[in-house]
Amino acid sequence: MENQLKELFYSVFGNDPEGLYFAPGRINLIGEHTDYNGGYVFPAAITIGTYGAVRKREDQKLRFYSENFAELGIIELSLADLTYNKEHDWTNYPKGMIYYLLEEGYKINQGMDILFYGTIPNGAGLSSSASIELLTGVLLNDQFDLGIDMLDLVLTGKRVENQFIGVNSGIMDQFAIGMGKKDQAILLDTNTLDYEMVPAAFGEYVIVIMNTNKRRELADSKYNERRAECELALSRLQSSLDIQSLGELTDEQFEENKQVIADDTLIKRAKHAVTENQRTLKAKQALVQNDLATFGLLLNASHASLKDDYEVTGIELDTLVETAQKQLGVLGARMTGAGFGGCAIALVKESVLEEFIKQVSASYEEKIGYVADFYVANIDDGARKL
Ligand code: GLA
Repeated sequence: MENQLKELFYSVFGNDPEGLYFAPGRINLIGEHTDYNGGYVFPAAITIGTYGAVRKREDQKLRFYSENFAELGIIELSLADLTYNKEHDWTNYPKGMIYYLLEEGYKINQGMDILFYGTIPNGAGLSSSASIELLTGVLLNDQFDLGIDMLDLVLTGKRVENQFIGVNSGIMDQFAIGMGKKDQAILLDTNTLDYEMVPAAFGEYVIVIMNTNKRRELADSKYNERRAECELALSRLQSSLDIQSLGELTDEQFEENKQVIADDTLIKRAKHAVTENQRTLKAKQALVQNDLATFGLLLNASHASLKDDYEVTGIELDTLVETAQKQLGVLGARMTGAGFGGCAIALVKESVLEEFIKQVSASYEEKIGYVADFYVANIDDGARKL
């Protein structure tokens, strides 16, 4: 890959790059839509992600090129004008990172030619945007000797997403992509940012990523809507409970107090946030105890809750997941990420992998009318210089 990147860089910019970088994508094992509710998440960084190559320039020009959006050619910007611009398309992500690092007082005083190449399928919900943000972060940190901690780059990445792009997402994606470790999942308390690395050891089983290939249209507005619904449910609960987030509640406390929310939809949304948080802690415990059967059942329960209470799945994800759950040698399956399309994961016995893909693939295509894609997830280190 390194040589390919160098050659590509040369063919686009007519020069050799001075640094090569990589930032992974992520999967989330369990703990979905909990990160903006003060709960736990359990993600891991994966081997597919975004590669970057850079060469500093003597002027103030920023020239971006992505092999994934080759038709857009080189997009030329300037360090002097880093405001959000819809026409600048994907370059708003790296632009946002530069913008906020400058605002935080870091010295980025030369233009750059930067090439991006992503191996995350487009719109798959494996966090290609957070991957681009963290890639840009490690690249700038290294090229300009900024000395920024990874955690600060993670927080800046989230800020880009929330304030520059306008998606009210939580910390999970940037955290997993920045802090990931090979063969480890991260149990992160999104309230305190305390975290624990847990060996992602599945014995004879593998995590299969199943891509619906459904474009995640409207996903961002629906995402912001769910977040607002949870905030409203929380504010109503606060009239009778002394809590700062839904993540503080046990299932029992929620059941005892839910009527003050006084709206069936809002009760369902909050119920998901509360129960998913408890499932995440139980799933971590099951994994540590090597109780994969329990771990799998918790994945299934998570999907059911995301489908029925949070309503963020849709026919494509449900078909994939529910077909996967019925196959021999499968311990559990659920959607992963924001939902509304994108990817699901399944815990599948390696010895039946081929048959699993064949069966699920055929059912999906028959019902949905186009194919799904399948990849085995390998868990790897976070964003880094190559
Ligand atoms: C997206 C967001 C995350 C998280 C998930 C849902 O990936 O970026 O912050 O909220 O959805 O768990």
